[in-house]
Amino acid sequence: MNHTDQQGDDDSRADRVAGTFGRLFGGPPDGVWAAPGRVNLIGEHTDYNDGFALPMALPQTTLLAARARTDGRLRLHSAQGDGRVTDLTVAALAPGAVTSWVSYPAGVVWALAEAGHPVGGADLHFDSTVPTGAGLSSSAALECAVAVAYDELYGLGLPGPELARIAQLAENAFAGVPCGIMDQMASVCCTAGAALQLDARTPEHHRQVPFDLRGQGLRLLVIDTRVSHDLGDGAYAALRAGCERAAALLGLPALRDLPAGDLPGALQALPAELAPLVRHVVTENARVTEAVSRLREGDVAALGPILTTGHASLRDDYRVSCPETDLAVTAALGAGALGARMTGGGFGGSVIALVEAGRESQVGESVTAAFGAAGHRLPRILSVTPAEGARRLAPAPGTR
Ligand code: GLA
Repeated sequence: MNHTDQQGDDDSRADRVAGTFGRLFGGPPDGVWAAPGRVNLIGEHTDYNDGFALPMALPQTTLLAARARTDGRLRLHSAQGDGRVTDLTVAALAPGAVTSWVSYPAGVVWALAEAGHPVGGADLHFDSTVPTGAGLSSSAALECAVAVAYDELYGLGLPGPELARIAQLAENAFAGVPCGIMDQMASVCCTAGAALQLDARTPEHHRQVPFDLRGQGLRLLVIDTRVSHDLGDGAYAALRAGCERAAALLGLPALRDLPAGDLPGALQALPAELAPLVRHVVTENARVTEAVSRLREGDVAALGPILTTGHASLRDDYRVSCPETDLAVTAALGAGALGARMTGGGFGGSVIALVEAGRESQVGESVTAAFGAAGHRLPRILSVTPAEGARRLAPAPGTR
């Protein structure tokens, strides 16, 4: 989709959500905001180890039509929900008090108040094109839409990384998912045509890395395996705890602080169940650095082997892949993809594949055929481009 098409699409979606908002809540919203989902190109399970990642925003977004309220009520509705409007009171928000999808947006309002920001109520209507349960950060998109909308509605003026931290706090402390900061940083801080070079220890120092897929005759496929991933199920928390224990045993603040040269000694010293986790994190951080160098040289195709090696590390050392993600990677490579890997937390979710332009259908058909032959549910395949992070759509910035 080119820039003009994207703009036209955004405008008509913004009009539609504003119209629905009017029917639900009466009168127009104060504004319409958009926040994207993401794929991570490389740097998986590194963010909560204070390490590196390289996500990009997806064209798929969560739209939010919002209007501030002066009575402290928080009313929420989603086009993807059960049709009901949830009616809450900001002063009564507390971790555990709200469940379902509502915990993500309500958690952001709670987190802003917790951080001492003067926020009140609002009417919120969401409409999302980010697939849920596909490892594409639909929850971060919900959170970040609220964060950017509240930032403007309540005149907070917070920088992007601070909004990402607030959204992460909502997910950790309110929704109870112990995620790192990558997804929220991607949703807030990405720019079109670039990947985001993230150092999770200092998110404010993030940098944009040009990612000119199309200019280099390349495409990026997202293969949603439709095996629903759920980071709240304890496996993610257990991996995170394993990494923290390994860092403590090594006397380091975080695994990010283990130099690659010290890895062999560390692997000897650690209990057998922790060593592979550490090997993944240290080699994965190196893969991010390598990927950033190749992209800065303008060699997008060089990303291919880095993706594939990263997948092997997630499969064999970190053990967060599953038969469907492994099959998608093998089938994509077999059909000529330059590289492929699972993306996101794992245990299902999506695979990304870097392919030459013109080979998308061949790769897509091979993966679909392999899934059919294995008796898996058929995957959903999208071709994506690096898109813009969270932003206001309407009224257009500067026209209010
Ligand atoms: C999920 C989490 C992120 C990150 C990835 C794995 O997406 O939300 O913080 O840890 O898993 O890289």
